[in-house]
Amino acid sequence: MISTLLSRLQGGADGAPVPRLGFGADYNPEQWPREVWEEDVRLMREAGVNIVSVGIFSWARLQPEPDVWDFAWLDDVMDLLHRHGVGVDLATATASPPPWLTTAHPEILPVTDRGETLWPGARQHWRPTSPVFREHALRLVREMATRYAGHPALVAWHVNNELGCHNAHDFSDDAARAFRDWLRTRYTTLDALNHAWGTAFWSQRYSDWEQVLPPRLAASHPNPTQQLDFKRFSSDALKDYLRAEREVLRELTPDVPVTTNFMVMPGTKGMNYADWADEVDFVANDHYVVPSGRERDELSFSANLTSGIAGGRPWFLMEHSTSAVNWQPVNLAKRPGELARDSLTHVAHGADAVCFFQWRQSAAGAEKYHSAMVPHAGADSDLFRAVTALGDTLKVLAPVAGSEREPAEVGILFDWESWWASEQDSHPTSLLDYHREALDWYSALLALGVRADVVTTGADLGRHRIVIAPVLHLVPAELAKDLTRYAEQGGHLVTTYFSGVVDENDHIWLGGYPGALRDLLGIRVEEFGPLPAGQSVELDDTSTGTLWTDHITVTAPGTEVLAHYATGPHAGRPAVTRRAAGSGSAAYVSTRLGAEGLAALLPRLLEPAGVSSELPAAVRGSVEATVRRGPGGRFLFLVNRTDGSVTVPGLTGDVLVGATGDDGAVVLGPRDVAVLRTSTT
Ligand code: GAL
Repeated sequence: MISTLLSRLQGGADGAPVPRLGFGADYNPEQWPREVWEEDVRLMREAGVNIVSVGIFSWARLQPEPDVWDFAWLDDVMDLLHRHGVGVDLATATASPPPWLTTAHPEILPVTDRGETLWPGARQHWRPTSPVFREHALRLVREMATRYAGHPALVAWHVNNELGCHNAHDFSDDAARAFRDWLRTRYTTLDALNHAWGTAFWSQRYSDWEQVLPPRLAASHPNPTQQLDFKRFSSDALKDYLRAEREVLRELTPDVPVTTNFMVMPGTKGMNYADWADEVDFVANDHYVVPSGRERDELSFSANLTSGIAGGRPWFLMEHSTSAVNWQPVNLAKRPGELARDSLTHVAHGADAVCFFQWRQSAAGAEKYHSAMVPHAGADSDLFRAVTALGDTLKVLAPVAGSEREPAEVGILFDWESWWASEQDSHPTSLLDYHREALDWYSALLALGVRADVVTTGADLGRHRIVIAPVLHLVPAELAKDLTRYAEQGGHLVTTYFSGVVDENDHIWLGGYPGALRDLLGIRVEEFGPLPAGQSVELDDTSTGTLWTDHITVTAPGTEVLAHYATGPHAGRPAVTRRAAGSGSAAYVSTRLGAEGLAALLPRLLEPAGVSSELPAAVRGSVEATVRRGPGGRFLFLVNRTDGSVTVPGLTGDVLVGATGDDGAVVLGPRDVAVLRTSTT
């Protein structure tokens, strides 16, 4: 579907549609006088912008009163953009309900678990389950779609904006009603719900559906399955809202692809995007770099996971920043080269469009200190020059458009249900961080220069020789069977502490941990041994474990111990094991080794799978390599992860972006990205 969109972009010199990478931003012309728009389109042309998202926060301007519509300004914007060859990803404008609506209907405002109302004054102040909000919002969507159906600038629909960004979990009475309906569909009977929620515990048995509530602030830990179901429900409620807008759009403009911007980032776990992917015509993502000490790894991980969510197909980077954001405690400007490297890392992982928040930096409002493509300083700025240079690079990369990711030998399984379930309260430790553990493994693979695909549950694991499933905590019987089959048929599975522990109802798999995976792994654990913050244990392979330990007994012949604990209560006992299973194997890492420890261990885990780095030894860790393949050929992306120059010898191909030395080696300057076409098919 993204190819439909791209082919509609007016990129050719003669105005004819040509397939190419998208380049643009959120465009908010309503913040500026009309004369600025003329300069905007001129600068867009200069920068090579070919797509912008318009109208995201325009509801109050488009519908100033319940029965008054004002589309004239947007008609003007659409026409102007079209005249200048810029396609429009048109927002449905429902992301920020106008004051007249919240004044007339305060019952659309979200409520926290403490019963506090989230008042208007910012944005996204609406309940995903409010029938009143939905009625007004869908009326607006219908007006928009009717008005702009057939407009030549319209290339895609942008539903709402970052669904769930500020209102993912609403505990209002509307939510309570919808939660009950959702539970009725899931369980049919109250008996089934009572069983699933384990309500024999703490006298929680329900005798009437009306007694069931969202997990509002309670005297102690709310029921864990109720919490887990509320997370599932909340993700589904937003998904249902997405569908509702999409259905109106499909009815009125069946040929225009529909998307919404996901937020695949460590802090946004409320929306199960793996489960949403099929609801959109192409996957779009927003990503912002958050200081963490390993920003590069996280950006690459997010882009890689987005590709996994998109099933390896091209996706659309809807937002990222040209430089600083405005919502960190301290907002750092990007250093020279980072704007392009961040953008091209997304392209390396399958993005067919590179867009920013936003086109022109606001003069007023909460985001006036957030960077943009045209900064406060204006077009005569290093930032705008860097933007224009990126636009030129993306033109050169046009042949990449439409290509998919070439499967890597290593897969990292990222599972939303395990993310939710493993981090619930009342657990052996509150220090466990699901995303961090997955990122540890990814960082270790980057350090070794080994390509990996981050994939989501349900993906075909058989494409990967080795599948790493960190903290795969929630394992329904079916998943346990799939993983067993994968290993028996020659795959090499690696999993970690706190995996296989509960089923889909968050009930323990009894008989010893790691429950559902115990037989496959050939080990048994009777009691968990979490470690307090700051404490660690040594392993006899010289690595150090934190966070967690297990008292492991090997139960199956053919299970080898790859490392033992050297210190701590389990000294002398297994810490890392591997069982030969069928023609594959299943390995278990019982403590948190961190990226460094995992990089030391990984060669031993990769070895039976026959996996090693495709990069020359000298550049492993300094350079990230990804491969895309499609109608335009096979493309090797080389991202310099360092702030120094790196020379990559021994690679051949047509250099689309980048430089080579006299000996033909690819030379990457600090933070550079090179792209080679290694084959034309
Ligand atoms: C996103 C949002 C944009 C803008 C941006 C700032 O979450 O979609 O509208 O607020 O963040 O980083």
